[in-house]
Amino acid sequence: MGNEALIQLFRDHPGEYVSGAKMSEALNVSRTAIWKAIKKLEGAGYEFEASTKLGYRLLFEPDPWSADLIQAALATRTFGRTLTIEGEVTSTQDLARTAAEQGAPEGYLVIAERQQSGRGRMGRSWVSPYGKGIWMSMVLRPEVPIHCAPQLTLLAAVALCRSLRRVTGLPIGIKWPNDLLVGGRKISGILLESAAEDERLKYIVAGIGISVNLAEADYPEEMLEKAVSLRVAGGRVLNRTEMIADFLMEWEQLYGLFIKEGFRPIATLWESMAVSLGRKVKLTTPQGELTGVPESLDDSGAIRVRRDDGSLVTIFSAEMGEPLASR
Ligand code: BTN
Repeated sequence: MGNEALIQLFRDHPGEYVSGAKMSEALNVSRTAIWKAIKKLEGAGYEFEASTKLGYRLLFEPDPWSADLIQAALATRTFGRTLTIEGEVTSTQDLARTAAEQGAPEGYLVIAERQQSGRGRMGRSWVSPYGKGIWMSMVLRPEVPIHCAPQLTLLAAVALCRSLRRVTGLPIGIKWPNDLLVGGRKISGILLESAAEDERLKYIVAGIGISVNLAEADYPEEMLEKAVSLRVAGGRVLNRTEMIADFLMEWEQLYGLFIKEGFRPIATLWESMAVSLGRKVKLTTPQGELTGVPESLDDSGAIRVRRDDGSLVTIFSAEMGEPLASR
C-alpha cells in the first residue's frame, strides 16, 4: 500500500474521523498495515487524533517543498541560489561545512526536513522534528577580519526578526545575542560557526533554526516553558517556502548594507528590536556571573552592561537570564 492512497483518504474527509474498518476496506489491506502506515506518517510530520471508537482524524500535514519550489519563490541574487534539500541529516551545519571546505560559493544553502543531532549554542541540542520547521545552514564568505563574526550573528538575528514579524504579524523580539522570542519563549535560534586563516574569515556556516509548525507534543515537557513554535504562538500553520524566500531576501539586503556601510546601521536596527535592553538581568560569562542592566551594543557587537555601582562593563560572550524583578 502506498501512503499516498491513505493520505488521500483523509484528505477526502477533512476534519472527520475515518474508521480502521473503512481504511482497511478502501485500501484492501489489514488493520495492522493501516496502523503501521499511520505510525510511519507520524514519523514524517503528520499529526492524527486517535479514537478507539471512531478511528483516526488528520490534524496536520507538512507543507510539501522542494529545491525547485524554493528556487522559484526566491528573489535573491546569491543567497540560496544554490541549494540542496535533504530528508534526515545529523546537522545541516555538518553538510554545509563539508560543502564550504569543498569550495561551495557564498549563499550555498542546505535545508533538512529533520536533524538527528541539531546543535544549539553553548553545546545544547536543538529540537528538529521532521517536516515541521526550517532547519538550514548557509555558507558565507565575507571579506572581513575574524573579529567581525559576532556582528554577522547579530545581523542574521535582525534579518530573521524583521522577516518573521512581517510574515507572522507576531510581536517578536531579540534577546541578546540572537534568540528570537515571543512572549518570553524562544521561537528561533542562530548558530554561526566559522573557519579562519591568518586572522581572516575563510568562511562562515550560518545555521538558522525556526520552529515553524511544531505542536506542543513535539517538545520535551521541560522545554515548554521556554520554547514555542510560531504555529502555537500565532494559532495558524505557516508555509515554509514563503518564509525562507522572505527571510533570505531580507538577510541578503542587510548583508549588502553591512558590507557597504559596516556594523553601525545593523546595530541600530538590532537595538530597536531588542527585548533585553533596559531590564536588569543575570549574565553567565566564561569568567563568572554578574548582574546589571544591558544598555546598548558597542561597535564590535558586544553588549554594554551597567552594574549596580554605576560602572559600565562590556560583555562579549554570555548566557543572559530572564529579567530580574526590580526592587
Ligand atoms: C541556538 O539558539 O542555540 C542556536 C540554534 C541553531 C539551530 C540551527 S537548525 C539548523 C542548524 N543546524 C544545527 O545543527 N543547528 C542550526
